[in-house]
Amino acid sequence: MIRSKGAQILYLFLFSILVLQGCNRETPPVENDQVTIVFKHGKLAGDPEAFETLIEKFEERNPDIKVKGEVLPSLSDEQHQFYVINLEGKSSDFDVFAMDVIWVPEFARAGWLRDVSNILPTDKRAAFFKAPIEAAVFQGKIYAAPWYIDAGVLYYRKDLLEKYGFTPPGTWEDLVYIASEITRREPGLYGFIWQGKQYEGLVCNALEYMHSHGGDILKDGRIVFDSIDNRQALEFMEDLIYKYRVTPELVTTAVEETTRHIFGTGKAIFMRNWPYAWNIFERDGSIVKGKVGVSLLPSFPGYQSSPTLGGWHLGINKYSDHPKEAERFIEFMTSYEAQKTLSLTVGYKPTRRKLYRDSDLIRAQPFTAKLYDAFEQAIPRPITPYYMMISQILQPEFSAIISRIRKPQEALESGSKQIEFILQLED
Ligand code: GLC
Repeated sequence: MIRSKGAQILYLFLFSILVLQGCNRETPPVENDQVTIVFKHGKLAGDPEAFETLIEKFEERNPDIKVKGEVLPSLSDEQHQFYVINLEGKSSDFDVFAMDVIWVPEFARAGWLRDVSNILPTDKRAAFFKAPIEAAVFQGKIYAAPWYIDAGVLYYRKDLLEKYGFTPPGTWEDLVYIASEITRREPGLYGFIWQGKQYEGLVCNALEYMHSHGGDILKDGRIVFDSIDNRQALEFMEDLIYKYRVTPELVTTAVEETTRHIFGTGKAIFMRNWPYAWNIFERDGSIVKGKVGVSLLPSFPGYQSSPTLGGWHLGINKYSDHPKEAERFIEFMTSYEAQKTLSLTVGYKPTRRKLYRDSDLIRAQPFTAKLYDAFEQAIPRPITPYYMMISQILQPEFSAIISRIRKPQEALESGSKQIEFILQLED
């Protein structure tokens, strides 16, 4: 019960503050017409703090825009599923999003992306590596801006190779030999680890053996999957585990981060992975700091190293209510300056070629300059709106090979028939 007049006035005063605050929340004052854009991207393995600082820098320079970052799981397949469900449902819950290089034609064809020629008119495209630009063009228009580039590389224990008098292997056979020799003398170490779980990463790995043996999935739009080159390459992949025994069976369930953890705790001699892992190995306190070398992936004799082209693009959701602000954010995130910061901190490698001659970057990360060749040489997965369908055929086939459920030849025949069916869908 309220006793005094003074107390009544005080209650009234407090009540009006609460009401006014409530009103304020619903209708922001006119001078503060700030727009919030939502940026969706996969979980970072590197340094999330530096990433946030970068976003803050954008907000300082663009006081009318606020960016809300939203994180999805790190696996590409899981993110793909999220976008397909949400964009089918015409969701406007996010404005800018990171897309795996392999999805752009599929999403563009579905009508889920805005054309980003404003950010990337033809004359500005030459500043980027050619392959990621080509992957972002659909029916003559560009639908995403290359944000960072990936290519499979070989990580090796510099200290161990030196100790036993080896240099990094040029051929897959050399790799098997070195791994066997060192593990014989250093029991307890794994020879060579890579990503073999049934997912997109396994397709990237398998393609590296196939391409570095002269094989492929498609050639000039025709299917060339069931070939001797592919058979020999896939037999080798299986042999790594069961014949040469340089690869432990655990790779059949491993993704990038599984192998990065094993290698990072000093338990393996060689690892195939993307470039992001290097920054993590070189952090203070890392067991392998200063002991890791990176080189081009080996090939079969007479063929070239054939890393799979990976990487992520930034695109604008067609249903976004803030496309102009989204454009400004993408322009910033793919700028020279932002890509340099991302390379130095998070470990994402620039899609802008000039950065590979940037003196600060090269001084801090000499290995980045070496990656240039891997990126130039990287081989894209088939650029088609139906890529994910092809991948979903290949994933269980490759997985069956390395789990010894199917012989490579059977997998090639079965995969070939199914891909043929998908190709009939092409318009
Ligand atoms: C990396 C690559 C991407 C690839 C994925 C597979 O994120 O950048 O292109 O599809 O790994 O796991």
